[in-house]
Amino acid sequence: MKVELIGAGETVQVYESKSSSRLLYSGLKEGADVPYECATGTCGTCKVKRISGEFSWLWPEAPARALLKSADDFLLCQCAAVTDLKVEVRSKLKPIKEIAQRPQWLTSEINNSVTVAPGVMTFSVKLSQPISFLPGQFMVLEFAGVQGGRAWSMTNQAKLTDTLDFVIKKKPQGLLSDYLFEKENLIGLKANLFGPIGKAVYDGELDRDLVCIAGGTGMAGMMSILAAFIDGGAYRRNRADVFFGVRTPADLFFESELRQFVEQSDGALRVVVAFSDAPASAELIAKNPLLTFDQGFVHEVAMSEMEGQFTPKTRAYLAGPPPLVDGALRMLLLKARLPATEILYDKFG
Ligand SMILES: Cc1cc2nc3c(=O)[nH]c(=O)nc-3n(C[C@H](O)[C@H](O)[C@H](O)COP(=O)(O)OP(=O)(O)OC[C@H]3O[C@@H](n4cnc5c(N)ncnc54)[C@H](O)[C@@H]3O)c2cc1C
Ligand code: FES
Repeated sequence: MKVELIGAGETVQVYESKSSSRLLYSGLKEGADVPYECATGTCGTCKVKRISGEFSWLWPEAPARALLKSADDFLLCQCAAVTDLKVEVRSKLKPIKEIAQRPQWLTSEINNSVTVAPGVMTFSVKLSQPISFLPGQFMVLEFAGVQGGRAWSMTNQAKLTDTLDFVIKKKPQGLLSDYLFEKENLIGLKANLFGPIGKAVYDGELDRDLVCIAGGTGMAGMMSILAAFIDGGAYRRNRADVFFGVRTPADLFFESELRQFVEQSDGALRVVVAFSDAPASAELIAKNPLLTFDQGFVHEVAMSEMEGQFTPKTRAYLAGPPPLVDGALRMLLLKARLPATEILYDKFG
């Protein structure tokens, strides 16, 4: 089916989409400038308006459907084309760019999984073929027996790799996280993945000082960004301040990995762990002289620690639950006066 996107300023892009395919994923595969954020039906960013043609809902209960105002409005990430479609996109469509790795469907198998904190596990998948991805990007993973895909950010980084690492949190009554956490052995479990996608990405060539603010598994993409910051040598000219929020010391994970990044950074990287519900124990502080511990909501800790230290070269990365990301966004825009283009974020609804 032919899909015609009509953007602001009379910009037009055309791509093909099969009747079984999500319109967002077909567009991304062909490099079209389709709007999106979560790619999984929760944020509403991919909302478009039908001008002509028919579409069908793949997940009619998608939470972001509640944001739609008319029967002609629909979500590109949750709908498929029934006939040729012409749709209106609110933004101006940017020219189709050639990128190193276009997103695609891949197959994979879990080859490693470890519980790293209560209700938090890391796991790795081996892909059927190597891919490249940018630090901060994510994949949508689907497992047989659980409907729909889930967006998870890679924690590793590499120019070309057939291994992707993830960290996931058990969400109360979360369908897929329940399924994975209740399984005795994940090794060999197959997953289909779509990606890599995501716009909160890090380009080590850019001359930017980084401020990373993450809550819980929002740290996933930050780990990939920090690995690139160290491995690519950007720490020799830029600095990074990382604020990682978890509830209590028992919920902390990636402790040794963060220590190692700080050790390798020649003083260019500071990691502050903020506990919202309990103070750091004397033992934890003694064990981690390279990490700083604080108490409070991570975005508030970040703003007080960073006061007077934002520069024209600052770029902020935010990830985690909406209250954290929204709170940090407000503070960075209004108090730190960072331009919106220098604040990149992933909200986990
Ligand atoms: C950009 C981004 C990056 C993320 N990175 C991480 C990460 O690194 N680690 C992590 O733990 N979490 C991450 N999340 C959150 C993650 O995608 C899941 O929401 C979370 O793992 C809970 O999944 P669940 O199945 O347990 O919960 P559920 O509440 O069952 O499902 C969560 C989401 O899955 C989708 N979904 C549910 N049912 C269906 C269906 N029938 N059809 C289609 N879609 C459906 C919806 O988007 C829903 O909001 C990220 C989210 C985003 C948007
Ligand atoms: S991108 Fe479709 S709802 Fe978020």
